Parts: sequence; structure tokens; C-alpha cells
Amino acid sequence: MNRESAINIFKSYTDNYDSSEPKVALKIEHSFKVCEIAEEIAKSLDLPDEDVELAWFMGLLHDIGRFEQLRRYGTFFDAKSIDHAELSADILFVDDFIKNFDVTGLPKDWHSLTELAIRAHNKLNIPENLTQREVLFANLLRDADKVDIFRVIAEIPYKDRANFKNVPQREEAREEIMQCVKEHRCVPRTFERTKFETSLSHGCMAFELVYPKSKELALAQGFLRKIIQNARLEANEKECLQLDLLEEELSKSLHKKIS
Ligand SMILES: [Fe+2]
Repeated sequence: MNRESAINIFKSYTDNYDSSEPKVALKIEHSFKVCEIAEEIAKSLDLPDEDVELAWFMGLLHDIGRFEQLRRYGTFFDAKSIDHAELSADILFVDDFIKNFDVTGLPKDWHSLTELAIRAHNKLNIPENLTQREVLFANLLRDADKVDIFRVIAEIPYKDRANFKNVPQREEAREEIMQCVKEHRCVPRTFERTKFETSLSHGCMAFELVYPKSKELALAQGFLRKIIQNARLEANEKECLQLDLLEEELSKSLHKKIS
């Protein structure tokens, strides 16, 4: 596909929002990074060129609803605003923003695959009963997104993290979170967490990386290690032990020592 034209259309869309606002700039950068990572994963799977292009294209558009989410609600927190993946897909496929893109060179089934992968990218699990090809693209986009999210999280100084004032403080992370660590699962977003529990939950996202390339990239970037190191700065003795366990389990899951 004509990537330059796709990027220009994406930029003309984001020009409607204030890119001097750090949160807007962050999501623009994230979109471009996810493109690159999705492309890299697709290539590692030896997909045909048209599928590599599709992976790149999905990466570019997957979070297009973030800008409108921020404008309408002033937050990226889905639980307090709107499901940003659904909003992204609605802008593209219900409002038909997608019609602006020249899709020459994409595979025939690009439309349904893109919609599906974007709607599924932030859910705890991908939908059931998908075809093999749908599973492949849904997982690919989710992996690419996660790999870059580790960067985004690690780059926000720990002390500047969201406001956790309303969450009761605990001496250590609750058992249900540690159970996710032990079982190599993502922590469901359904309950409020302390700042420390949030760090553990960020680490747990790596358990659900699907493709070897995604695991390799997540390790090579070093951001997972940084997320854990940041959490250690404020951790008490019990919490340090919980971080040790997370590191150990992540090393097993990613097949390499993470630090
Ligand atoms: Fe997203």
C-alpha cells in the first residue's frame, strides 16, 4: 500500500487535535511505533507482503479513537470513559473514515480483519470461534500494541503515575493478582488496584504475548525490566519478594532472564 499517503491521512486526522498536548503526542508516537512492531512481527511469521502491509496498516489505525476519547472525556481510562477500541473501529467502519485510505496492495479480506483486530485489541481475550487467519491478525495487533505499551509505561516516571488516592493501601499485592503472576495471565481490569498492584499488572501483560518475535522484542527493549525496577524504588520488603516472583515467572514465560 502507499504508506506515505496513509500516514498523511492519519496525520490530517490527528491535526484536528492539539499535538502540543503530551497525551495527544504520546498516542501519535504510539501509533507509529505499533506500525513498525506489527510489521516486524508479521515478517518474522513469513507472511506474504500484502499481509505485512495489512499488519502495518492495523498498527497505524488501531488507536485512532484515542484522540476523540481524550477530547470528549479528558482521559484514556476506558472504564471511566469509553471503550477506545470500539470507538476506534466505529470511527473507521461506522463513520467510514476508512474510505479515505488507498488500500491497493492489501489482501482481499483486509476490511473485516482490520475491524475485528481493532475491536479486539484491548479486550482481555480475543473473541471465540474465529478463523485461523482472524486469530493470527488479532493476536499480532495485540502483541504489537503490548510491546510498545511497555515503553510508554516505563517512560512515565513512577512518581508521576495516576492518582491512587482513592484505593486503600495494602502491605503487599492481593492474592488474586499474585495468582495471575503464578498462572501467567493478564490481570483483569475489573477491580481497582493500588499503584504497586498496577505495576505487577503491567508486567503480567507480557505473559500473554503470543509470538516469539514479540517476546524477543519485549525483552530486547528492556522496558519490562525498567517497569519492575521502577516499582522496586518504592516497594517494601514483602513487595520486593512479589516482584522477585514476577521476574522469575516472566523469565520462564519469555524463555530468558529478564534482568
Ligand atoms: Fe489501544
